[in-house]
Amino acid sequence: MAEELLIATGTKEERYALLCRQIASLVEGETDPIARMANVAAMIHLTFGFWWTGFYRVVGDELVLGPFQGPIACTRIARGRGVCGSAWQQQRTLIVPDVEQFPGHIACSTLSRSEIVVPIWQADEVIGVLDIDSEQLATFDEVDQHYLEQIVHLITEL
Ligand code: SME
Repeated sequence: MAEELLIATGTKEERYALLCRQIASLVEGETDPIARMANVAAMIHLTFGFWWTGFYRVVGDELVLGPFQGPIACTRIARGRGVCGSAWQQQRTLIVPDVEQFPGHIACSTLSRSEIVVPIWQADEVIGVLDIDSEQLATFDEVDQHYLEQIVHLITEL
């Protein structure tokens, strides 16, 4: 599978479609959500070469850092703070084309220029978020949103 990941080419849609199939088969054999998050972060990160790809989990009234790929990140984010805390509070995916234009953006890395945050649902509750940062402006669009929302669904699906 690693080989297939590294040679993934084609349009963004094609690469995401392949990634979804790979992730679906990978999580099938593992029910632990943290283990799933760890491999999902690695697979997304390797496929697209993003700057930072990872998860924050809802623990009480905060988001706490979960499995990730990339540089060291802040460990706790309050509800409503930054892009991650806002996506959790608003219970929807947030696409930020330029992080400097997002009021309250939390700069874990000064190299991050654009960002997407996707809530993870379990039943009718948000239990965490997937956060992806890019070194380029305006990296993320509705295509990323569409596929990443499918991918995070696989984290909690049994
Ligand atoms: N930029 C995020 C914080 C997390 S780091 O990007 C990994 C935010 O504003 O919520």
